[in-house]
Amino acid sequence: MTSHPSPGVAVIGAGMVGRAHANAFRNAATVFDLDQPAPRLVAIADLHQPFADDAARRYGYERAETDWHAVIDSADVDVVVVAVANSLHREIVEAALAGGKHVLCEKPLAPSVHDAQAMVEAAAAAPAQVDAVGFTFRRSPAINAIKQQVEQRLGPVRHFVGNYWCDYGFDPQRPMSWRYLGGPGTGVLADIGSHMADLAEFFCGPTTGVQGTTMATLVTDRPKPLGVAVGHAGGVRVSDERVPVENEDVCTFTTSYGNGAVGTFSLSRVAFGHANTLRFDLFCENGTASFDLTRPAEFHIIDAGPATEVNGARTVFLGPWHPYLAHGLPMDFPTVGHGQNDFFVYQARALLDQIAGIEKLPPCPDMAHGLHNLRVLQAVVAATDKPVQL
Ligand SMILES: NC(=O)c1ccc[n+]([C@@H]2O[C@H](COP(=O)([O-])OP(=O)(O)OC[C@H]3O[C@@H](n4cnc5c(N)ncnc54)[C@H](O)[C@@H]3O)[C@@H](O)[C@H]2O)c1
Repeated sequence: MTSHPSPGVAVIGAGMVGRAHANAFRNAATVFDLDQPAPRLVAIADLHQPFADDAARRYGYERAETDWHAVIDSADVDVVVVAVANSLHREIVEAALAGGKHVLCEKPLAPSVHDAQAMVEAAAAAPAQVDAVGFTFRRSPAINAIKQQVEQRLGPVRHFVGNYWCDYGFDPQRPMSWRYLGGPGTGVLADIGSHMADLAEFFCGPTTGVQGTTMATLVTDRPKPLGVAVGHAGGVRVSDERVPVENEDVCTFTTSYGNGAVGTFSLSRVAFGHANTLRFDLFCENGTASFDLTRPAEFHIIDAGPATEVNGARTVFLGPWHPYLAHGLPMDFPTVGHGQNDFFVYQARALLDQIAGIEKLPPCPDMAHGLHNLRVLQAVVAATDKPVQL
């Protein structure tokens, strides 16, 4: 067993995703080979002290902070996870990189291509440190199993159909939060469409064109929160005063890829009853594969294998012969199940391995990758259709 120094981890932001990261680093050394020491769980920082305290206690971090600068200035922190609103990413990432930290920043990397470009430059000026962006769905065992099948059996993708539907915004009484602020493209497109555009590229390669974008804001104002609104802002009391929503609830568009493949996308944050439905179908030269995040530990495949009379979509339950699962779960046999929180553990492990120079898992996408993703989103906004009135 190789011995590596144990890096100190801090998470900035103890909201919805900050807690997933805090949990992930706690578990990162428990999966896969025993060639990584457990990281030191040093600090959780959140502007709202109760959140910082809660997450630090819950996940076993040494201290809670309310000012992120305290984390950046700490000599015992080696790795910083940036898990706050998009508009705060740049300042924190630049300071963390300048402070000598390895940085994993949440997606979308920044609110604009301009900010993302500056962050990439800051990362380039710190070549000894790992810079990464959190496209967590790349760590899904099922999504990786489908990729293997595309490469081994199904052949090149002809058509990627991606739908990401959430319902966090369907209720007009849900309070205003950072998710509803910013110009066109900073709403559902940046929030969940960034994941979908990235997944399409995972299978089809770089996007070469975007066509036919439609964006709509269906809940045009929201009440001011009376408490701290976190995550999707449920359960917070609201005032009678309403403020305008600045970005889109729904977004649809079409993409092209270098191999002639086409992508069609449907994104919504007002899809009643769909808490977190990320699903896609891949129509390939020799078959079809489908994934649905509501059933994350399985996928469907149709190919020319079985006789026509009994052919159809087969459900494959993931097991230890699929990517990530051997020692990736305490019980790693089919039908035990796993989910999105596990993807964060695999991402955390990949980052720690990268820092230690261990090359076993695919490396985390870097900030240049996050910049590219923002360029795709920028193209989606630029491809907004001129409506033809009837
Ligand atoms: N990879 C994924 O699957 C995934 C999932 C959800 C969110 N995200 C991304 O993660 C980021 C955070 O999203 P979220 O849903 O967790 O947001 P959130 O609103 O739930 O949490 C943000 C937290 O940041 C805290 N905060 C605000 N200002 C701060 C400051 N100056 N210093 C320290 N803390 C501060 C808030 O109190 C809150 O607890 C966003 O970039 C989002 O796009 C990624």
